[in-house]
Amino acid sequence: MKKIVVFVGVDKSESSTLHYIREVLKEVNKKVEIDVSYYTQKSLKLELCKGCCQCFYTHKCNLDQIDHMDLLKKEMLEADFVILGSPVYLHNVSGSMKNFIDRLSYWSHIFALRGKNGMVVSSADSNGGRLVVDYLERVMAFFGCPVVASANIFSVYNYDDGLIEEHAEKIVDSLKCPIKSNKIIDAIYITLKKIMECRAERENDVEYQYWKKNHFFDVGSFETLIK
Ligand SMILES: Cc1cc2nc3c(=O)[nH]c(=O)nc-3n(C[C@H](O)[C@H](O)[C@H](O)COP(=O)(O)O)c2cc1C
Repeated sequence: MKKIVVFVGVDKSESSTLHYIREVLKEVNKKVEIDVSYYTQKSLKLELCKGCCQCFYTHKCNLDQIDHMDLLKKEMLEADFVILGSPVYLHNVSGSMKNFIDRLSYWSHIFALRGKNGMVVSSADSNGGRLVVDYLERVMAFFGCPVVASANIFSVYNYDDGLIEEHAEKIVDSLKCPIKSNKIIDAIYITLKKIMECRAERENDVEYQYWKKNHFFDVGSFETLIK
């Protein structure tokens, strides 16, 4: 049984983004047994990031004690595959998706989703979807998670892009044999490694210690790290 976690940045029950993801996963379920958890801003209590930066220094967020972010993080870390979806709000992700990403920003320094693959989905009435999926793909890359399927759906096509089965196939392949890295992740790894190496002097640097403990400095590429 493979575990899939979905977060969609909407604060309502009826969502075309969510509907499309359910359709893709229905197809996946025909080939691989999956256990899917769906989360949205509506189904969870997620406080707004306060901008204190403590997560970067301590890998802890005080807000996690008063809302559901800890549960969501645990779910994603335990998952085999992660899906992020957002409606297009003026050529960007929705506010709830952006806040979700802000709350996870420190994961971008530690490749927290390494070893997993993901999918990103945007839904628009007519325009701006490409910007949203490109951004979500980049965020996933910073989390160390190669995106194997990317959907950009529009109401003008009744949200059916004709690619549901194709996306499902890619997810099935990835569940059987996850892709380890891609060009963006490789580049992020090389840059971050240089930054982290400069921090060796700082004894109590949580991020540097994390990199050391997890052997991030011992390899030449992100792909080797995952292997
Ligand atoms: C605040 C707001 C801004 C929006 N901006 C855009 C936009 O820039 N381009 C567009 O095509 N649709 C835009 N839309 C429409 C939604 O992206 C579209 O209805 C989408 O399919 C909703 O997805 P959902 O059903 O998952 O919420 C906007 C909607 C809202 C509420």
